Amino acid sequence: MESREVDPVDWWMARHISGKIGYLGNSAGVSAWTFLEVRDLIKPEAVILNVGVGTGRCTQDLKDQGVVEIHALDIVKPALDRVRGVIKKGYLTPDDLPADTFDLIVSYLVAQYMDDAILQLHIGHYVRSLKSDGVLALQFRDVDGAIVEGQGSEIQNIGMIHRTRESVLGMVESVGGSLLKWVASRRVVSKSDALDTLLHGIQIVRT
Ligand SMILES: C[S@@+](CC[C@H](N)C(=O)[O-])C[C@H]1O[C@@H](n2cnc3c(N)ncnc32)[C@H](O)[C@@H]1O
Repeated sequence: MESREVDPVDWWMARHISGKIGYLGNSAGVSAWTFLEVRDLIKPEAVILNVGVGTGRCTQDLKDQGVVEIHALDIVKPALDRVRGVIKKGYLTPDDLPADTFDLIVSYLVAQYMDDAILQLHIGHYVRSLKSDGVLALQFRDVDGAIVEGQGSEIQNIGMIHRTRESVLGMVESVGGSLLKWVASRRVVSKSDALDTLLHGIQIVRT
């Protein structure tokens, strides 16, 4: 059996090269936008960053909604290559994100694959790259109901990092962001591990 104790870049490189949907996630854009309550912000003139490309479906769906300027961030190049014809620009690291640029940043089914240090770094750069009236919409796994604890790479690589709402809000406030609103929670049961877990979401603005 394959060891999961591997660097996230190596882990995701293998998943993207294999191209199997499984871990890649294949969310319809509308599922992510509805959950995060940002459907009204998906407008042709909005400059939007999609974090975590997966199969490319949610990025393609932005184009299908008429969004003209789409950017994407993913940890590995094969993911960005998948949406090359859809995006204006792709980024492999949040440090490269331009300042004061995005009307909307969407992160859906991605934060749960980052440990606290990485997530805080990402949130800091997302906030920096928002326009003054831009919105960051971020989903994460809530600890409520979680039976998996910790942040080791084995847990990280399977997207099972759970965190409290307070810890996420603390990260946001420490990097110059503030809470716009909490979005509704959704309880899901994973078929693969029967883990009953709570997906939560937050909308963030620059302070
Ligand atoms: C489960 S998929 C979700 C994709 C898509 N958002 C969806 O809902 O279908 C997670 C994606 O996040 C990317 N990813 C994982 N860790 C990341 C990181 N630290 N920085 C950027 N992207 C990351 C993976 O390569 C993968 O494309």
